[in-house]
Amino acid sequence: MTHPISRRRALGLGLLGAGSLGLGLAGVASSGFRSGPSAANASGGAPAASWSEPTVLASSDGVLTFDLTISETTVDVAGTSARMLAYNGTVPGPTLHLRPGDTLRVRLVNRLDQPTNLHTHGLVVSAEGNGDNPFVSVEPGESFDYEISLPRDHPHGVFWYHPHRHGLVADQVFGGLYGAIVVDEEDWSQRPPRVVVVSDVTLSGGAVASVSAAERRQGRVGEVVLANGLVAPPLAVPPGGTERLLIVNACVSRYLDLGGLAMTVRGLDSGSFVPPRTVDRLVLAPGNRADVLVEGPERPTSLVARAYERGAGGMGMMGASVEESDATILTLVPDAGASRSAVAPAKSPPSDLRDVDIDRARTLTFTMGMGGGMTFLIDGRPFDPDRVDQTVDIGTVEEWTLANATMMNHPFHLHIWPMQLVDHDGVDTRDVVDVPPGRSVRVRIAFDRFPGRTVYHCHILDHEDLGMMGVVQAT
Ligand code: C2O
Ligand code: CU
Ligand code: CU
Repeated sequence: MTHPISRRRALGLGLLGAGSLGLGLAGVASSGFRSGPSAANASGGAPAASWSEPTVLASSDGVLTFDLTISETTVDVAGTSARMLAYNGTVPGPTLHLRPGDTLRVRLVNRLDQPTNLHTHGLVVSAEGNGDNPFVSVEPGESFDYEISLPRDHPHGVFWYHPHRHGLVADQVFGGLYGAIVVDEEDWSQRPPRVVVVSDVTLSGGAVASVSAAERRQGRVGEVVLANGLVAPPLAVPPGGTERLLIVNACVSRYLDLGGLAMTVRGLDSGSFVPPRTVDRLVLAPGNRADVLVEGPERPTSLVARAYERGAGGMGMMGASVEESDATILTLVPDAGASRSAVAPAKSPPSDLRDVDIDRARTLTFTMGMGGGMTFLIDGRPFDPDRVDQTVDIGTVEEWTLANATMMNHPFHLHIWPMQLVDHDGVDTRDVVDVPPGRSVRVRIAFDRFPGRTVYHCHILDHEDLGMMGVVQAT
């Protein structure tokens, strides 16, 4: 059941309280969408905003140097304006366009009243020092200079960035902190691909609504689904042409069960499918990305995300059910004069680990406990940044069995090293692997480089904040 929106409180993030802006339910309703479990993204009559994409920051001569400032600010979002957390003032933040071999020099400037940090999700880079280090904490008012170097053989694909400060990740991502990263060798100056950053949020009183403890346990779902910060935007495309969409699931907990049109999937996460797979349904767990081709239709056709069943959490123990409903992501609108997206050549697949001899096998089990309230654990333990849970040797290939002993889905994410699904036709390599309730999934991982310490966790970010995370040390 949904709560009356007027009872929602603004997040305890230094965001404005619900009563302080004078923009209550009426203001939200007139902005073009209504809230409620059966009406997510329904049109309230206002014209849909036209398509737009985040600003692109592209590297040149092998480097991309920029400041990434996080502040709480008023942004245009969901056809209205709202107080959100923003990277450089926009939701989503800028898209970073990089090439293999590039170095990213980012000064993260924290203008929030709480700590944060930066994670480059899916990049195959060092997690040490001022690299993609999830243990860094950038305190309020401080800044931190990251230097993240992509190897020359870094996979092409779509990746993303978001905060990773344990305990605050779900609130900060829900608040608006996410942006895309695209790694390829293409020149985007004429025709870029279409970047589609999908997120969800609940706005109340001109700010981001707070969520209850029960919603955190379940994994919060926002009432409105956004594509590049817009509700169901129209995308003008030439009929019969081929469009390339790079889709990021930046939702805190929502699975995107995509359908409504035929999609040719060229790859998920850092992996690629050779040959590509034509499907009419594609499920992206939180954190997953997809590189898909779609055909320009003869009449307006929507890409939709259907409500996805991801486990009730067990006999009402969670105290909340998932408030989820179908949502329109975007609508392809035929327009013979529209420009086309660029379609980069397909890339070769990652090497196949199914035939190699593995050096070690281990099992990691998602568990939940009842000690002092419901706990979210891996192998019976909550996250402890000072404990190493798995030690792996650089140069080895391991097989991990990801087991789920709970009644909810948990999407497993490992930083730095991609995972190949073992029980699968063809090569399917990802960095977020969904593990349904009561099931287990086998993956193989080549720990081929980057000694250091990093994390693996459930990418339902509420669960990660509640402790469903572990530490891996590669030596
Ligand atoms: Cu997208 Cu450890 O996170
Ligand atoms: Cu990550
Ligand atoms: Cu989980």
